[in-house]
Amino acid sequence: MCGIVGYIGEREAIPVLIKGLEHLEYRGYDSAGIACLGARSSKFFVAKEKGKLSELKAQLNGVPSNIHLGIGHTRWATHGQPSRANAHPHLGQNGVIALVHNGIIENYAELRAELERHGHKFKSQTDTEVAAHLVERYYHGNLQEAIQKAIQRMTGFFAFVVISRDDPSRLFACKRSNPLVVGVGHGENFIASDISALLPYTKQVIYLEDDELIELRCDAVTVFDLQTGTRIKKSVSRINWNVEKAQKGGYKHFMLKEIYEQPEVVRNTLEARVKKGKIVFDSLTQKWIHRLKQIDKIHFVSCGTAYHAGLVGNYMLGESLRLPSEATVSSEFRYEDPAVDEDDLVVLITQSGETADTLAALREAKARGALTLAIVNVVGSTIAREADAVLYTHAGPEIGVASTKAYLAQLMIIALFSIFIGEIHPARKKDFTQAKARTLLKELSRLPRQIEETLRDEKRVEVCARALREKKNFIYLGRGYNYPTALEGALKLKEITYAHAHGYAAGEMKHGPIALIDQTQPVICIAPSTSKTYEKMVSNIEEIRARKGIVISVTTRGDENVRSLSKYTFSIPETQEMLSPILAVVPLQLLAYKIAVLNQRDVDQPRNLAKSVTVE
Ligand code: F6R
Repeated sequence: MCGIVGYIGEREAIPVLIKGLEHLEYRGYDSAGIACLGARSSKFFVAKEKGKLSELKAQLNGVPSNIHLGIGHTRWATHGQPSRANAHPHLGQNGVIALVHNGIIENYAELRAELERHGHKFKSQTDTEVAAHLVERYYHGNLQEAIQKAIQRMTGFFAFVVISRDDPSRLFACKRSNPLVVGVGHGENFIASDISALLPYTKQVIYLEDDELIELRCDAVTVFDLQTGTRIKKSVSRINWNVEKAQKGGYKHFMLKEIYEQPEVVRNTLEARVKKGKIVFDSLTQKWIHRLKQIDKIHFVSCGTAYHAGLVGNYMLGESLRLPSEATVSSEFRYEDPAVDEDDLVVLITQSGETADTLAALREAKARGALTLAIVNVVGSTIAREADAVLYTHAGPEIGVASTKAYLAQLMIIALFSIFIGEIHPARKKDFTQAKARTLLKELSRLPRQIEETLRDEKRVEVCARALREKKNFIYLGRGYNYPTALEGALKLKEITYAHAHGYAAGEMKHGPIALIDQTQPVICIAPSTSKTYEKMVSNIEEIRARKGIVISVTTRGDENVRSLSKYTFSIPETQEMLSPILAVVPLQLLAYKIAVLNQRDVDQPRNLAKSVTVE
């Protein structure tokens, strides 16, 4: 998804912008560009290129120096193909204004037609170039005023950073729905769509809210209301992510590093949330908890991998506590006229905290009076700020586009939250006792080691990946708590290997997918022996064997029965069924990773995917 950086200060701006953009590469992009202004130049220096940043950097040999103001962008195409012409920044009709933009201007076609009637000529197919022309049309020496007027004409959502060739001493930015963060330095200031781009330079940040307009100078940050122009007082926050954390740390890919960080992520979650055998959620106020106790139903709302976490949550609450719950994908929830009101809790699960559909679902739930809770990884993200309460997953920055450690962190928080509800909610299942909560907490505390043990099977996974690397179709089967694991295993494989994979509830096999099974068909069966549907999974495995399918199983260590029925087996340590998805997904992440590497896929930035999906 698109990324923005802006800089003003004493350093050479171009290297600062390029480094910032490098830190945003993980979001996924198809082209990149910068526009800068020297202290005495009367023209912008602009460089743009399709493809990776290396293509852009190749254009920057011998560029002018003494440039201290600039904006940069990585684009993920929405309007118009990935191309140099469509890459940002875009300039106005006479090259007076340059801007970068994240988001979508919904009425851009009519604005473009209007500007064309006034003689404007466009070089790209983008909505962003229309915005640049519009700002320039309203510009008569006062950039702030021009931006305000132009915004009044636009519908949609955006984050803009704008500079004028008339004034190298400042940069303006504004936002509605799309994120922007200011990085505060000494004698310099930064702006970016994502904290990662600021990490090399500063840890002091100002989070911007919707409809704020920001003026950045070397030595000052001023925030205004976008509509009225009145000054707004903002506070500076300190972030504790460091640059090393966002580096690969010796692993070949971010994804592999993140898979191996999972024991630490789970350990950190437990350390932060379980104190003296009690679950502690500091961020939940007494008032919020009081309302939680009156809730009749819980809805998990999320997308993609985070949706699979919601499905696991649904089993945790439904099965263990007997609390009515439902998991829905955000894009359905927001448009289905959801049956939620003040008696419902809506839990939004999101790594980025910026996913457009999940944000819209949150706003819909709030509008209907529901109590809301966000389970979010990125601190200070829009969903984290707008929900009634937030539980951060603290998985650290997840750079690989395919989510791994954030998923485990989501499952951990949901498991803890389920136990927490089991302890406090008056309508919980009768047999959810303190003793049961203690047992689950004990089992949870064993997970970091158990994940480490599971990761030791990497070589075994590699052998299987070598055998299956050329397969184009995979089936994943699971039941109950591990039906979502089947979906997640299949999603991981699709995302990074580009092979087709389909996850099913194993009981559905007979109702169609069984037609696919022959001696060429790999079927991954998730069959932990602690599951109450274990025998049923074994029957599914027998059915696959009877049709000569290739059985790959995930089962509990020591289960010789399933091992003997499988061509390849990945074993996980024994744990409670409720917690088994936290272990069972790990070999499936590794399998997808290994097959992708063997097929030389771009593991960390798979084609067509974006880390943070801020458009619908
Ligand atoms: C898959 C993946 C996506 C995200 C989904 C939601 O590996 O990363 O399916 O899970 O786009 O994103 P967030 O969690 O940021 O809302």
